[in-house]
Amino acid sequence: MSRIVFLNGSFLPAEQARIPVMDRGFLFGDGVYEGMGVLGGRLIDNEAHLVRLERSLGEVRIANPYSRAEWTSLEEELVRRNGLAEGFLYLQVTRGVAERDFLFPKSTEPTVLMFTQAKSIVHSPAAETGISVISVPDLRWKRRDIKSLSLLAQVLAKQAAVEAGAQEAWLVEDGFVTEGGSSSAFIITKAGSIVVRPLSHAILPGITRQSTLALAQETGLTIEERLFTLEEAHDAAEAFLTSASNFVLPIVSIDGRPVGNGKPGPLTRRLRELYLGMAGASAEAA
Ligand SMILES: Cc1ncc(COP(=O)(O)O)c(C=O)c1O
Repeated sequence: MSRIVFLNGSFLPAEQARIPVMDRGFLFGDGVYEGMGVLGGRLIDNEAHLVRLERSLGEVRIANPYSRAEWTSLEEELVRRNGLAEGFLYLQVTRGVAERDFLFPKSTEPTVLMFTQAKSIVHSPAAETGISVISVPDLRWKRRDIKSLSLLAQVLAKQAAVEAGAQEAWLVEDGFVTEGGSSSAFIITKAGSIVVRPLSHAILPGITRQSTLALAQETGLTIEERLFTLEEAHDAAEAFLTSASNFVLPIVSIDGRPVGNGKPGPLTRRLRELYLGMAGASAEAA
């Protein structure tokens, strides 16, 4: 079965989907995106992702082409047409097609693209073993709270990580960890506190971050929303990342040094279980 994508109002086989060369997403990275996890054929935390999409579009002044209800039914239709049980739904909106000029075009419809990717999230080997990260300088622009398309710094960071035998890059600015190349970064101190950077323009407000923190709070775990240094991360008892396509994933090594005993830590495992419970439960309830 060929992959079905959604492009500008139509569902069509991926090989038939075409975007004009003058699309501003292609020429300028002028657009925003979202990514939602799919479990049991249901979108996880979709409402929160659509709220963030609205905000990203508003911040870059692209009109939102659909209401939340319309987005949801288009997303669900795409998941259904692809028979996707578990994986990821990618959605992007660009400012559209126009003669190349930096200024906003006067009357251009946004380009809307969605596709799905199958992926094992629940039974991922990485979740069993944990992953390694390396630290790299954070070279990104200053509005990382907007989920914008221009991802060159993340491409370079994540490529450097893989070339160093790791699976994710932790981005560092002024000695403090901002976040992962495509994930939110957490450490757990030896005293058992979950430490995560507070929201600001410096990081993306991760939706999985938000849900994980809510679950941690309900469970009575201690949370400290504050900056943390790379040295603190090297010295932490546990570390993990969160993202829509991984949920909660243990980190067992940072810059080649083991975190704690070099195995996924007990609090991280617990948070992953809590998240899976929530995602499974919301997938069934939906
Ligand atoms: C830079 C960055 N931070 C954090 C995240 C995690 O966000 P979410 O949990 O909403 O997937 C992502 C996801 O792609 C990301 O690109």
